[in-house]
Amino acid sequence: MRKTIREGYPWKPDVFILDIDGKQVVVKDYAAKPFFFRFFVGAISNRREALIYRKLRGLKGIPEYIGLIDRYAIAVGYIPGRNAAELMSGELPPSFFEKLRALIDAVHEQGIVLCDLRNIKNVIVGDDGEPYLIDFATAFQRGGRFNFLKNGLYRIFYQDDLLGIVKLKRNCAPHLVTAEEELAFEKGVFLQKEAIFLKQKGRALLRKLFGFGKIDAPRRKRRGIINPKG
Ligand SMILES: Nc1ncnc2c1ncn2[C@@H]1O[C@H](COP(=O)(O)OP(=O)(O)O)[C@@H](O)[C@H]1O
Ligand SMILES: [Mg+2]
Repeated sequence: MRKTIREGYPWKPDVFILDIDGKQVVVKDYAAKPFFFRFFVGAISNRREALIYRKLRGLKGIPEYIGLIDRYAIAVGYIPGRNAAELMSGELPPSFFEKLRALIDAVHEQGIVLCDLRNIKNVIVGDDGEPYLIDFATAFQRGGRFNFLKNGLYRIFYQDDLLGIVKLKRNCAPHLVTAEEELAFEKGVFLQKEAIFLKQKGRALLRKLFGFGKIDAPRRKRRGIINPKG
C-alpha cells in the first residue's frame, strides 16, 4: 500500500507512506525530480538528514530512522498524528509546549540545531498528544572548537529554534504567549545578536573580568531574550 502525503514541487521530495510488513514507514523521495534537483538538492539533503537521524537515534519524540533506500530516498518511522499547521487555535494545552521545549533542549544537548522550526509543519502532534519533530534536512551540528563561523550560526539558529516554539504558540495558543516571548519574537533573531554572542562564553568571561553579571540580567530581559535554559 502506498499513500501520498505530498507530491509536486521539483525542489521538494515526494513524501508518501508505505506499509512494509504491517509497519508504516514514511519515505521522502527525490527519484521523480528533474536531474538538477535530484542531484544537487535531493542527494545532499538526504545525506544530511540521515546523518542527523543517526545522531538523534533513540530520542523520544524523533521518528525512528530506518535508512537511506538509495541516494535519493530516505525512510523513517511514521508518526500517526497531524502536523501543527492542521490544528485549530486552542487545541494545545500548556503541557504540550513544555514537552516540546524539553524535546528541543534534548536535541540542542546533542549539539544539533533544527533551523526550520519556524515552519510549524515540522512539528507533529501525535495521536498520543505528544510532540514529535520531523524534517532534519536543514539541521546541522555545532562545529569544532575553532569553527567560529559555524558556531556563530549555531548560536543564531539555537535562538531561532526557540522562537519556533513562540511562533507555534502564537498560531495555536496565543493566550499562552508571555510578554517576554512576544518581545523576543518581534525582535527576531538578528536583533538579538549581541545577547547571542555574549550569552555563552563571553558572558562568563565579562562577569569574571568586570563582575557585571547582576546589572546585566534585567537589561537582557528588557531586550527580550529567551533564556536557553529556562
Ligand atoms: N515521520 C513522519 N510521520 C508523519 N508524517 C510525516 C513524517 N514525515 C513527514 N511527514 C509529513 O510530510 C510533510 C513533509 O515532510 P517533511 O519531512 O517536512 O518534508 P520537507 O523536507 O520537504 O519539508 C510533513 O509536514 C508531515 O505532514
Ligand atoms: Mg518540512
